[in-house]
Amino acid sequence: MEQTPAAPRERRKIIFSAIQPTGVFTLGNYIGAVRNWPPLQKDYDCLYCVADLHAITVRQDPATLRRNTLEAYALLMACGLDPEKSILFIQSHNPDHAQGAWVLNCYTQFGELSRMTQFKDKSARYADNINAGLFTYPTLMAADILLYQTNFVPVGEDQRQHLEITRDIAGRFNGVYGPTLTVPEAFIPKAEKGARIMSLQDPTRKMSKSDPNPKGLVSILDEPGVILKKFRSAVTDSEARVAAGPGKEGIANLMGIYSVFTGKDFAAIQEEFAGKGYGDFKTAVGETVIQALEPVQRRYKELMADKAYLEDCYRRGAQQAARLSHRTLEKMYKRVGFLHA
Ligand code: TYM
Repeated sequence: MEQTPAAPRERRKIIFSAIQPTGVFTLGNYIGAVRNWPPLQKDYDCLYCVADLHAITVRQDPATLRRNTLEAYALLMACGLDPEKSILFIQSHNPDHAQGAWVLNCYTQFGELSRMTQFKDKSARYADNINAGLFTYPTLMAADILLYQTNFVPVGEDQRQHLEITRDIAGRFNGVYGPTLTVPEAFIPKAEKGARIMSLQDPTRKMSKSDPNPKGLVSILDEPGVILKKFRSAVTDSEARVAAGPGKEGIANLMGIYSVFTGKDFAAIQEEFAGKGYGDFKTAVGETVIQALEPVQRRYKELMADKAYLEDCYRRGAQQAARLSHRTLEKMYKRVGFLHA
């Protein structure tokens, strides 16, 4: 009998995600996104990047941006991403992102960009600098994702709308030119597993690096004493009952954080703290967070002490990323009719 060739090994699915270097990651970034990235390295081909191109949609001090970019890169590694297992790079080091974004800009409608809630929020917050980059931010994000033929994008809940527009743009491009870009899916944690961590001072607003009130956010490099203090002064309610429910957004937020690090569900947490005051609960949450962040903080210090190693990693990461993105960019250029250079 004639021998048939072995079936090709099924290709691993591709994961892409990114984070802006606009300051030390918050507990929201960590729980909603970065913490979920390392386990994916085992079963997927993963790419993770520091989105410095996105960061300049808001005015940045150049020296601070440079420092924040290196720190964000080191933080990704400190959180468990391994340059031997994933491609870890800095967005501006691969020019394909800007080039791909230009093409995709021409397949994105003014109307759909105008509907982006992040654009509306940011243009209200930075009313003196509503630049075109802020407006076309989602097309750059679409390029980030689509250039790698990404299957899944692990992000927090606040990025859902950007993922939807990415899917629309990919679908439109494919509709005009035939299958070219993989239409990606969002990987968003369940609500009670930290898809949206709220400010400790205003539990109706998401925890954000740019919160003007530093007590509202926990940064993953905060000292243990600072973390404990922030949790102890978290805004809750006057009911003194550890349970979720209407008017109890502050407690529900703390329960979500506690649940992520202890693996306990809300019913178990409610039982654990039945009859105890908020003081005990807040201290327990703070201590759990301190314990979870300790290895990240330790590893971060080691990495920042070896800048040559970090440089080596991000250079290699950019080369690996560019090799992959280039294939897609070339395909896109060909599809739209650019003459081969
Ligand atoms: P960024 O830098 O604002 O946030 C990085 C990741 O953290 C998640 N996140 C949260 N999750 C839960 N609760 C919170 N309070 C919270 N705050 C932030 C975000 O959902 C995100 O996953 N535009 C992106 C960066 C980006 C990107 C991409 C992401 C650029 N290109 C391509 C995915 C794919 C951003 O500004 O994330």
